[in-house]
Order: sequence, then structure tokens, then C-alpha cells
Amino acid sequence: MQRPNTKSYFLKTFGCQMNVYDSERMTEALARDGYAATDDIASADLVILNTCHIREKAAEKVYSDLGRIRDMKDARKRDGKETVIAVAGCVAQAEGREITTRQPAVDLVIGPQSYHRLPELIERTANTREHIVETEFPGDEKFERMKAPRRVSSPSAFLTVQEGCDKFCTFCVVPYTRGAEFSRSLAKLEAEARELIAAGAKELVLLGQNVNAYHGEGPGGRTIGLAELIRRLADIEGIERIRYTTSHPRDMDADLIAAHTEVPQLMPFLHLPVQSGSDRMLTAMNRKHRAEEYLDLIGRLRSARPDLALSSDFIVGFPGETDQDAEDTLSLIRAVGFAQAFSFKYSPRPGTPASTHEDQVPEEVKSERLQRLQALLDDQQADFNAQALGTIVPVLFERRGRQPGEFVGRTPYLQLVHVAAEGDLVGSTANVAVTDVRRVSLSGVIAAA
Ligand code: 5AD
Ligand code: SF4
Repeated sequence: MQRPNTKSYFLKTFGCQMNVYDSERMTEALARDGYAATDDIASADLVILNTCHIREKAAEKVYSDLGRIRDMKDARKRDGKETVIAVAGCVAQAEGREITTRQPAVDLVIGPQSYHRLPELIERTANTREHIVETEFPGDEKFERMKAPRRVSSPSAFLTVQEGCDKFCTFCVVPYTRGAEFSRSLAKLEAEARELIAAGAKELVLLGQNVNAYHGEGPGGRTIGLAELIRRLADIEGIERIRYTTSHPRDMDADLIAAHTEVPQLMPFLHLPVQSGSDRMLTAMNRKHRAEEYLDLIGRLRSARPDLALSSDFIVGFPGETDQDAEDTLSLIRAVGFAQAFSFKYSPRPGTPASTHEDQVPEEVKSERLQRLQALLDDQQADFNAQALGTIVPVLFERRGRQPGEFVGRTPYLQLVHVAAEGDLVGSTANVAVTDVRRVSLSGVIAAA
């Protein structure tokens, strides 16, 4: 039974798609507990920041937001109203009690493995006015405890299939903030996928920090990999598109490559971070693959699916990176040809091995290398999008655009497409004739069936 909607909450999500998924689940749990969402942070009874710790900028942004939220809390207090401030996500997991020390207005610090306890802990801190820090990695399963009929806010729905990472790249906080790899069982994922489809989803985006290392319990208790999971999900009536992210080159096995040939719903787009094109850097990063192995893998993937569009993450200015190393990364990018990519300056993260290296790269050098790398990636993205001009592509429409009568969707290659049309296209797939191409998006008109 639901309580009357007396309390409001404001939830802000930082970082990756995993946080977006977790925020959706928190939203569902709060709705069951009688909370109503508000966009007006100043009037919210509960403010939750679902945070990201991957780079320093993301983590510092949380503290500047918290300063402003504290002022709002003080202002509300003068009007006789209480506010609960909760910090969730990876900053919560990584910094724990340090957060309440640095910003005492925070009432609750809750790590990603404890979200099933969110309503209970909010109530406890509201009643006792005590700081609560909950960052254990409990053995029990948060997914089960957060069970709820799924709602979907978009025809493209996230489904978390795997969490955590055992790779320990030397720059990365994820193995510490999200813990060891854990895969959900096929039975649970099929059930959640069916709920999502019944609620209107057309596309499933399978999420995991290391999604292609998926090894969940399958039929008869045997362990299955991501390829088999994808095949089983593709059999569910109504699933039009499947994607998965984020993958590690080492876990891209032959079966998963074959799935790109065999499963029609598996979209021809792959985010496969390489980080660097220099073997020296890849070794220092503990990436467990060499540049040549990555190129060879791309070759096999393209043999399986010739139109596969590729995306990657890059880090520039990792400790000890020379001009030659940076040049090697540009060469790898030229050899692959990416449809899109993300690139970052190396950011030393407390507790990770690389953060204590002595040969840190100066900020100006990082900036200069990032600029060159991004210019090349931008050109490649523009070239990739230009190929779409004059073609007809199937677009799954995800939402309305800003202009009246405008709809926004995606091609199989994840390109954004804007179209003006009559009626309501959201949730449907239609062929679009591409008439205009910009660097990051396409536009066109609905093509006659
Ligand atoms: N500094 C810069 N970028 C980082 N990433 C992860 N850790 C760091 C760091 N310390 C990037 C990697 C990863 C992406 C999610 O974020 O490229 O693939
Ligand atoms: Fe981080 Fe990805 Fe490396 Fe895992 S594989 S440690 S999540 S960069």
C-alpha cells in the first residue's frame, strides 16, 4: 500500500549509464514509499545526488553542489522545514564518512550496493537526525530487493546485467567503487526484459562496467556468456534492438563476435575502449592487451559485421606518456576509423596505482595532446556521419524534440536523427531519408514505406 504523496524529492544523476539505471530504480523505490519527484530543488524534502568518481572534476562538482544545497537546507530550516540530503553512487562508495566530515549538512551516504535500503535509511536519518554512512558490499542482491514492476521513460531501456570489474586498470577507481564482478542470472534478466518490453521498451541496452565479461547462471545451472544471453533475449517477442556497453577488448570472445553476424536485433555499433595506442602505455595501464591485438580484434569484428560502427575511450597524459606514445595513439585512431569516441585527460584518482607515479604529465601537455586527438576524432565522426547523407536508415524514435512536431531517434549506428512529422512517432521505427548532416547529428524526412 502506498502512503499519500506528502514528501517530495529531487534526484540528480552524474556519470555513466549505470548511474542512470540505478537512479531509475531509486525513483521507483521512492515512488512506492510515497515520495513525489520535483524539479524544484529548493522545495524538495529530500535531495539525492547520484555521484561519479571516475575523474576528479566529476567528484569535485559534487562538493560544489553540496555547498549550494546546504544553503537551501538552511533557508528551509528557517521556515521550519527539514531537508534530508543523501549522497549516493561512487563518490559515496569511495569517500564514505569523509563526505559528512567535509559537508556536515549531508545526512546519508549510501553506496551502490545498498540502494535496496534507501527508503529505510532515509526514514532513519529523518527520525534520528544522525549521519548514516552505508557503504558495505553486502552479499545479498540489491536487484532482488528492489524488485518492482519496471516503468520505462524511453523506448530504449537500460538493463543492468553485470556490475563491478576485476580488471584493475591502474588509472581506474571502478574496481574499488563498484567491487568485484557480479553477473545476474538469465532467468532474472529474461523476467526483467519481459517487463520492460511489456511497459513499452523496444530497445534493450545491456549494461555492465565490464559487460562482455558477463558470466551468469543459465539453463540447468550452467554458466553462460554475453553472446548466449543476447541470443536468449533476442528470442523475446517484441525486442527490436539490442546493444551492450561497456566492453573490454580482452573479453571479446569468438561467440560474441559471431553474435554480431547472427543476431539481427544486435545493432552494428560497439563501444570498445582502447585507452591508448602505445604498448608501453597499455602495459603501464595494466590493460592486458597490445595495440596490435586491438587492431586484429577490430578486423575480426568487421569481418563478422562489415558495417560495424566503432566507439572508444581514450586517456591522454597518462604518467610517463611521451610525444611518441601520443603519436602512436593517433596512428591507431587513423587505422581504425571511429564513428564516435570519448577522450579524457588523465586524472590521478586517490587509491589507484597510477596516481602515485612520479612522472606525471604537465597539464599544458595534456591539453595540447587532447586537442589534437579530439580534432582527429571529430573529423572521423564528421566523415562517418557524412556517409549517411542521401541514404535511407531505420530510426527508432525515442522522444519529442525541442521544436513542435519534431522527433528524435537513433540509427542502428547510434547516430541521433531529427525529423519533423505529424502524429506521434515515439516508440516506433520508421525509415528516414537523410537530408542534412551535422557533426553530431543527422536530420531527414520520413521515407515512403
Ligand atoms: N583519468 C581519466 N580518465 C579516466 N577514465 C577512467 N579513469 C580515468 C582517470 N583516472 C576514463 C577511461 C574509461 C572511461 C569511462 O573513463 O577512458 O574508459
Ligand atoms: Fe576501469 Fe574499465 Fe579498466 Fe575495469 S576495465 S578497471 S572499469 S577502465
